[in-house]
Amino acid sequence: MPPRRLLVTAALPYANGHIHLGHLVEYLQTDIWVRFQKLRGHNCRYFCADDTHGTAIMIRARQENRSEEELIAEMQAAHERDFAEFGIEFDNFGSTNSDENRALCAEIWQSIRDAGLVKEKDVEQLFDPEAGTFLADRFVRGTCPKCAATDQPGDNCSSCGTTYSPAELVDPQSTLSGATPEVRTAKHLFIELEQLHAFLDEWTQCGEHLQPEIANYLKGHFLGPTDKPEPLRDWDISRPAPYFGFEIPDSPGNYWYVWFDAPIGYIASTRQWCDKHGENLDDWWKSDDCEVHHFIGKDITYFHTLFWPGMLKTAGYSLPSKVHIHGFLTVDGEKMSKSKGTFVNARTYLDHLDPSYLRYFYASKLSSKVDDIDLSLDEFIAKVDKDLRGKFVNLASRSAKFVAKTGLSATYPKDEGLFDAASSAAAEIAQAYESCDYSKATRKIMALADSANAFVEANKPWELRKDPENEQRLQDVCTIALNLFRQLAIYLAPVLPKLAEQTGVLLGDPITHWDQAQTPLVGTPVAKFKHMIQKIEEKDVQKMIEESKETTPPTPASGELASADGNESANTTTLNDPWKDPGDPLAAEPLAEECTFDDFMKVDLRVARIVSAEHIEEARKLLKLQLSLGGGEYRQVFAGIKAAYDPEKLVGRLVVCVANLAPRKMKFGLSEGMVVASGPGGSEIYVLSPDEGAVPGQRVH
Ligand code: 2FM
Ligand code: ZN
Repeated sequence: MPPRRLLVTAALPYANGHIHLGHLVEYLQTDIWVRFQKLRGHNCRYFCADDTHGTAIMIRARQENRSEEELIAEMQAAHERDFAEFGIEFDNFGSTNSDENRALCAEIWQSIRDAGLVKEKDVEQLFDPEAGTFLADRFVRGTCPKCAATDQPGDNCSSCGTTYSPAELVDPQSTLSGATPEVRTAKHLFIELEQLHAFLDEWTQCGEHLQPEIANYLKGHFLGPTDKPEPLRDWDISRPAPYFGFEIPDSPGNYWYVWFDAPIGYIASTRQWCDKHGENLDDWWKSDDCEVHHFIGKDITYFHTLFWPGMLKTAGYSLPSKVHIHGFLTVDGEKMSKSKGTFVNARTYLDHLDPSYLRYFYASKLSSKVDDIDLSLDEFIAKVDKDLRGKFVNLASRSAKFVAKTGLSATYPKDEGLFDAASSAAAEIAQAYESCDYSKATRKIMALADSANAFVEANKPWELRKDPENEQRLQDVCTIALNLFRQLAIYLAPVLPKLAEQTGVLLGDPITHWDQAQTPLVGTPVAKFKHMIQKIEEKDVQKMIEESKETTPPTPASGELASADGNESANTTTLNDPWKDPGDPLAAEPLAEECTFDDFMKVDLRVARIVSAEHIEEARKLLKLQLSLGGGEYRQVFAGIKAAYDPEKLVGRLVVCVANLAPRKMKFGLSEGMVVASGPGGSEIYVLSPDEGAVPGQRVH
């Protein structure tokens, strides 16, 4: 197969915060994929940049009394240092605040204008007269117009769940200055995404570019059934001054919204690299010979699977071959928490632990699914120690020293088929890497390590060395062990580049290609064995957690940017609860009597997909739903949610159903379960949905 040309990106980190362990899931996942492709000999490049624009940066710069440029330069340097120390190697790391990006934004904008996709609309927004700026929803707090709960944000009430516009808030206050904001009308520019509906339907649903759960999510939430599409909402892509960003050339006083220029940063970063290396941008962004792969988190799916393909298509750029979407990181089964010390910055980790530990642990957890991954700290310590030291490095440390003088045997000795077995595993491991199923790749590699260790255990080089008569056998056993070790180091090189490098030094043969695992090394010298990896110490993990603890948790996401990062939104404890929910529902319906775990387990709650939903003419409250539990198992359910839900919008959606409720004969037919929902009734009913990644039939407990 000729080398592939691969352009790979990870989401651009915001310049208003440091890199943390949540971010690293993605940068490491991508780095491993890129290193794997490079090791296979492909022409693969990894581009990224800092995402620098928006209100949050502007406000922060003001608060710190310095320019935005100074702030973003400082943050970029910190980001680049953190990435480098984790072994994350970009071919270019740029900035969205670059000349290249400004020029590309203008060019793409013109194409979108020329295609007739831009329209103007007046938007009412709150304006802070003291700070002199329009306020994004999260910079306003006030009293809910519906339930009168105080201290609510500008877009929806955390107490009763009502959504509203910031202008509807009672007694609004700017969180920037404390001033009472005024309602002002400003002209905004919108992209009419609906004009691209047919294209986006085809592109998202063709089965080639997205994980199946993502394609279904888009269909169910935004695109609607092909024969009855849901119109896509216009996308508000401008912000009036003051705003830190690029002014729109043909709309003075208006700036491109940060999410317009951010993904264009992928192309701008490529352009910088092309200019430095004498390459042609079109070979990377406008050629059928180049595959474009984006790696992102599930919280920014909409931007990358609807807006971005729409922009690329309109401007004549290549569409992504794949958008690889991952879930969030939890630590010990919970959202990262500043008060618990599990919101760990990259720098704090690096101060205490070896980056290889985290690279390996994340790899062992990542699959091609959108599922969240959990960093259980006990498991982290145990796995890193058992696999990296116990199974992998141990192979070398127990054999290299015995051949430091003689080197490897001149011919490869008989080894019970171990080398051949490991070389024929290459294809399966490669396939696992290719499909981002690193957990499968590492499992397979560790199984090979088990066989290699069994060989060393059985042949005991430390015993052989005691008798000079065994000299040849000792050299042969160590030659085998070191060659098996080298195969593992090659397969693990995308995950553990530093260990691969050390292996190259030990055996005098740098690891540069995946196919090196097919041929044993013989007759070559072996360097003195140098320590490869420290034992992971629980006390260091504890120190890292202690150091990450913040006694006062921050207020909820204080900027449009921070809030868009699902991993970075505020974590709460009951003691420091910034929402202060009033507890009215509890008063209206006090908690039920205690039940035992066994009682609870009698109720079989399952994830289900609504496959059809219809009105029943004669019923005032009921909708008739068909739920799929997967595998051809269905339930017909009559749910009293007619006043709250439009049946068409429910189709495709995942819900939770009581799957073992005794069937009930109703006037309109048999009801075979219940859909779980909250709320007082009428139009105030809220059907519960699992997070994306859940699969029909999974038990909920
Ligand atoms: O969610 C985020 O962290 C954004 N800064 C990602 C931008 S990705 C791309 F579109 F630029
Ligand atoms: Zn309310």
